[in-house]
Amino acid sequence: MSTDPAGPGPATEQLELETVELQLLLEGVYRHYGYDFREYALASLRRRVWRRVNEEQLGSITALTDRVLHDPACMARLLGDLSINVTAMFRDPHFYVSFAEHVVPQLRTYPFTRIWVAGCSTGEEVYSLAILLAEHDVYDRTRIYATDINQLVLEQAREGVYPLDRMQEYTDNYIRAGGKRAFSEYYVAAYDAALFDAALRENVVWAQHNLAQESSFNEFQVILCRNVLIYFDKELQNRVHRLFYESLDRFGTLCLGNKESMRFSAYENRYEEIDPEARIYRRTT
Ligand SMILES: C[S@@+](CC[C@H](N)C(=O)[O-])C[C@H]1O[C@@H](n2cnc3c(N)ncnc32)[C@H](O)[C@@H]1O
Repeated sequence: MSTDPAGPGPATEQLELETVELQLLLEGVYRHYGYDFREYALASLRRRVWRRVNEEQLGSITALTDRVLHDPACMARLLGDLSINVTAMFRDPHFYVSFAEHVVPQLRTYPFTRIWVAGCSTGEEVYSLAILLAEHDVYDRTRIYATDINQLVLEQAREGVYPLDRMQEYTDNYIRAGGKRAFSEYYVAAYDAALFDAALRENVVWAQHNLAQESSFNEFQVILCRNVLIYFDKELQNRVHRLFYESLDRFGTLCLGNKESMRFSAYENRYEEIDPEARIYRRTT
């Protein structure tokens, strides 16, 4: 409710009403279909929901709620709008340079390492990490647990087949990330696809996991969760930080996306910053 003593203006009232409509849509989606977007950041949800309202040629979020609840095909279209699966191989190359410099030496001190890649999307990040670990001779004693809420992206990730026309961009990223070989050694080209070497997923376990609802399933030396928390509201971010904190070994490493940070999170003082630019943190307590 507005606290303006002069009363809410029409624009404020409109926004408040729209927020109620949005919350009712998210509640309906959760109760009818089980997809839980209730704690995602409202500003970006609002934009994406309105895109769906317009595409469906409807006039309001309430009209969309009605259609979504009665038409599973419309739900599938909305789901496509709400889940952002954008990713790339060796995305933010500096992160991989920094990981090799600061994290790999620590991995060498363990006989065996478990790494959790949370929100792995279609797997490009996992194959990139596997390549880096292999080039530093630590892949053989590593198991990567790659999880995402979305079963469809996991199926693509398991196959390891990516569009050939992205290989130039990925090759550039790989070189900037400090890659030691020719990137083309890792895949074979077939028609318009690049099939990645099966050895890169030999030590990978793919599993569906919802960061908003589930607890940890293991203890990890490293957790990567890049470009996922940015879509969550503050409360959910803090719950997920708690999950990561509890899932990490003491002195374990947490890696976030380049627009994410530990700053202002409830767990900020439990970590030291290893490389602020690469968003690499080490658990200290
Ligand atoms: C933008 S992609 C990031 C992919 C990759 N980590 C990267 O940085 O390139 C975000 C991923 O988070 C996943 N995601 C969103 N909400 C999630 C949740 N509650 N639990 C697990 N994964 C989630 C999405 O399905 C999507 O694949």
